[in-house]
Amino acid sequence: MNPLANELNDVLEGTVVSRLLSRLGRQMYFPKGIVSQSAEAGLRAKRLNATIGMAVEHGQPMVLSAVAGQVPGLDARELASYAPTAGLPELRMLWQKQLLKKNPSLNGVPISLPIVVPGLTNGVFHATELFVEEGTIVIIPDLFWGNYRLIMEVRRGATIVTFPFFNDQGAFNHQGFAQVLTEQSRTCKKLVVCLNFPNNPSGYSPSITEAGNIRDALVNCANQGTDILVINDDAYFGLFFESDTCKESMFALLANAHERITALKIDGATKEDFVWGFRLGFMTFGSKGLSETHYEAVQKKVMGSIRGCVSSSSGLAQQVLLKAYKNPAYDAEKQLKFKELERRYHKVCEIIGQANAKGYQSFLRPLPFNSGYFMTFECVGLNAETLRLELLDREIGTISIGDRYLRIAYSSLDHDRLEELYQEVYTAAGNLLASST
Ligand SMILES: Cc1ncc(COP(=O)(O)O)c(C=O)c1O
Repeated sequence: MNPLANELNDVLEGTVVSRLLSRLGRQMYFPKGIVSQSAEAGLRAKRLNATIGMAVEHGQPMVLSAVAGQVPGLDARELASYAPTAGLPELRMLWQKQLLKKNPSLNGVPISLPIVVPGLTNGVFHATELFVEEGTIVIIPDLFWGNYRLIMEVRRGATIVTFPFFNDQGAFNHQGFAQVLTEQSRTCKKLVVCLNFPNNPSGYSPSITEAGNIRDALVNCANQGTDILVINDDAYFGLFFESDTCKESMFALLANAHERITALKIDGATKEDFVWGFRLGFMTFGSKGLSETHYEAVQKKVMGSIRGCVSSSSGLAQQVLLKAYKNPAYDAEKQLKFKELERRYHKVCEIIGQANAKGYQSFLRPLPFNSGYFMTFECVGLNAETLRLELLDREIGTISIGDRYLRIAYSSLDHDRLEELYQEVYTAAGNLLASST
């Protein structure tokens, strides 16, 4: 074990994080190499700084005007410099400030400073590197973003255990969740849980009561002596369209819930700020009883994982976002985009309500949805993949998930095309059904 890893492990000794770390997580450290020495020189080498692997002239990075001309709002340093491994400090602080504003329950709760990663996918990747290994049980509701399988199961050998997402009342199946936690904790004193609200693919987020039930199930399990890492994938955070939906992240309910629970919020600008290709996400930890020193040690582990993988996130994207967050028009513009997506949501509800009234839910049963980008049909008596191909023949793109589910990203179509889209989906499904009987 590298002495730097040992140092971090010593700091974390006795905490839930220490017990949750994978073997790789225990070995991870942030080297006192180029990045660390350059950062030190940045503070102290005011005369001549010959540390970082960049080309500099007259104190500014060498930039081609063919490149700089594309982004006139940024100077050469902002445009082309490497960002620090954990991200631009000012951006991290602003994201934390926004996080507290969006999740008032977090006020007064010690949480880590968000760490910048190149997209939420990469955040899930680092969390998995540090906390998941061969045989680690990862509990996920059965409707989930397929990439978790690649990252957790294929790359790291996790055992994914699912439970039905919805109960008979069309609400989050907290009884099923509690049951699977109890069952798994009988043989396993370390569990990883992955929650994603608003959910991809269903488009569902829990109500305030349901969110409380989810927290209670986790706290009960922790009370039995199980250590739990809860990964909160908040990719679509903020797109809540109904009044009774919990408007805070589950992270806010879990960050100070129990000494045996570590909550990790993975969120980012990707969907929240409509910059999908920027590749900017954040990882924030919250765990009852952890001090700032503990959080710094965890951060060093994540930084080691970043350094050994992508080295750092896009500096250009971070600088653009930083300026956007400081722009007085930012909040109002974002609210306008939210309103447009909300309008589409209500339109889809109206269309589906009318279709259900005609009995169409007998073959296309909409799963409960109230948030995010998507809604999903459960196909009854027809195959979802066959339906997807039939729709493709009509030049319409949707996503099939196995044979049973068809996901529709209504966020990706203008309001005035939604009627046409759903009409085609219902017609194609009706035809397939008729031809099969
Ligand atoms: C649930 C969920 N998490 C994460 C991501 C990926 O986010 P990013 O593009 O920032 O990697 C997506 C994107 O589709 C998603 O649906």
